[in-house]
Amino acid sequence: MEQAQNTCLDSCVFVILGATGDLTKRKLIPAIYKLAASGKMCDFALVGVANSATTMHDILEQARKFIPTIDPQVWAKLQKRLYYYQMDFHDKKAYQGLRDLIESVEGSHKLGCNRLFYLATMPQHFAVITKNLASYGIAEKHQEGRLTKHGTWARVVYEKPFGYDLTSARTINRAIRKVFDEKQVFRIDHYLGKELVANIALARFTNRIFEPLWRREHIDSVQIVLSETLGIENRGAFYDACGALNDVVQNHMLQILALIAMEPPEKLTAEFLRDCKVQVLSKVKASAAILGQYDGYLKEKNVNPHSTTETFAAVKLLINNRRWKGVPFYLKTGKHLKRDEASVHIKFKMVKCLLDFCPMDSNYLTIKIQPDEGFFLELNVKSPGTFNRVVPATMNFSHSAHWGPNTPAAYEVLLADVIRGDHFAFVREDEIDWSWKIIKAIKGLKTKLYRYAKNSDGPKETASLDSRLQWRS
Ligand code: BG6
Repeated sequence: MEQAQNTCLDSCVFVILGATGDLTKRKLIPAIYKLAASGKMCDFALVGVANSATTMHDILEQARKFIPTIDPQVWAKLQKRLYYYQMDFHDKKAYQGLRDLIESVEGSHKLGCNRLFYLATMPQHFAVITKNLASYGIAEKHQEGRLTKHGTWARVVYEKPFGYDLTSARTINRAIRKVFDEKQVFRIDHYLGKELVANIALARFTNRIFEPLWRREHIDSVQIVLSETLGIENRGAFYDACGALNDVVQNHMLQILALIAMEPPEKLTAEFLRDCKVQVLSKVKASAAILGQYDGYLKEKNVNPHSTTETFAAVKLLINNRRWKGVPFYLKTGKHLKRDEASVHIKFKMVKCLLDFCPMDSNYLTIKIQPDEGFFLELNVKSPGTFNRVVPATMNFSHSAHWGPNTPAAYEVLLADVIRGDHFAFVREDEIDWSWKIIKAIKGLKTKLYRYAKNSDGPKETASLDSRLQWRS
C-alpha cells in the first residue's frame, strides 16, 4: 500500500446522490481512491444512490480506467466499503430506507457518524433532495454553524451548474437556507481546485510587484480563455439545455474573473475572499457578445435538431469601479476548437517609446491554468548584437518543472477541503446570484448565433467583438 504521509481526515460516510452519472466514474471515485491511497481518507464508507438498478462495485469497475495506477490493497479496501441504494429522489418514503442504510453502514464500520452528501445530480433535484435529507433526519442542521446536536458534522456538496438561471438558483438557495446552515453547504466549482486558479489570489497578494500595477492606469485589457478540442461527448440532453454560457461562463470563467479583478481582501480567508469576489461581480456589465454553434451539432445524439444552443461564446465585459473603469475583460470559450487551453492573459499598456525601433507590443502576464501550468511574463529585451532594438522574450515559471508532476487533481483537493470544513475554494450564495445576473445580461444582448467549423478558432465574426482586440489564444 502507498505510504500514509498525512494525518487522517475525519472518518465519514460519503454519500453520492446521482452515483450512476459520468462525474462519479471520471472524477469522484478517482479522487476518493487518491485520498485513500495517500493515507488521508482512513475510515470511510461509500454509499452510491441513484435511480437505476446497479451496484457500487460495477460503478467502481467503470471508474478503473480513469485511475492511472492502481494499488491492489487500496482497491481491495475500497471494495469492502461500497454500498448502493436505488431510489427515486422524489419518492419521500425512500428516504427512510436511505437513512436506515446509512445508520447500518456507520454501525458495521464503526464510523463516527460524520456524513458527506455529494449531490451529483441534475440541478432540478437539488431542492427536493435538500428538503428530504433534512426532514428525514439524514443530514442534521449544524447548531450555530459548528456541528449537529450530536457533535458530528453533516456537509452537503452541490455540483455545478447550480440551477439553470437566476430564478432556479434562488429556489435552490431558499430550500437550502430553510434547513441548513451556510457553513454546511459547499457549492463546488472544480476550477477553484485547480492549482493555478488557487494560485491567483495568493500570487496577487503575496508579491509586492503586482498590486501597484493591477489597475486601469497600467492594464490595457484581460483575456480569459477556456478552449476545448472535445465536443459534448455523451451529454447531448444536458448540454443542449445548458449551452456554453451556463456550462462554463457562469461558473469557471466568472470565478476566474472575480479572482483577477477583486479588491485585496482584508485577510486571505474564505469569508473575506468571498466578500471581495461578490463586490466585484456586482459591478460587472455585459458589453458585447458573439455566440456560435459548431457544424454538426444539430446531428448530435439527444440534441434538438433545431437547437439554438451556443457551443461557443466570446464576451466583452466591463467592470464599473475605479480600478477597472474602461478596461475590457474578454472571455472566450467553446467546444470542438483547435486547442485545449485554459489561460488568463493580462495585457499591460504600452510604454512611451524612447527608441528608433519601438517595442512591437506591450508586456503580457499569462497565467496558464492548463496545460503546461505556470506564470509567463513577456518582456521586451535587447536583441543581441544591436544597441537599440528590443524583441519580446518570456520569463517562465513552469509549475511542473518547479514542483514535479504530482500535483493533486482538483476534485481530490476539494473533497479534502469539504471533510476539513474549509470553504476557501467554494462559492457562496450571493456569488451564485450575481453570476447568474451577469449571464442574464449577456443573454439580454440578443446576439446572433454564428456557425463555425470543428477544429477552428470559432466563428470568424469573433474578431468583430472589439476592433482593437487580438486574441492571444
Ligand atoms: C465542466 C463542463 O464543468 O468543465 C464541461 O461541464 C467542461 O463541459 C469541463 O468540459 C472542463 O473542465 P476541465 O477540468 O476538463 O478543464
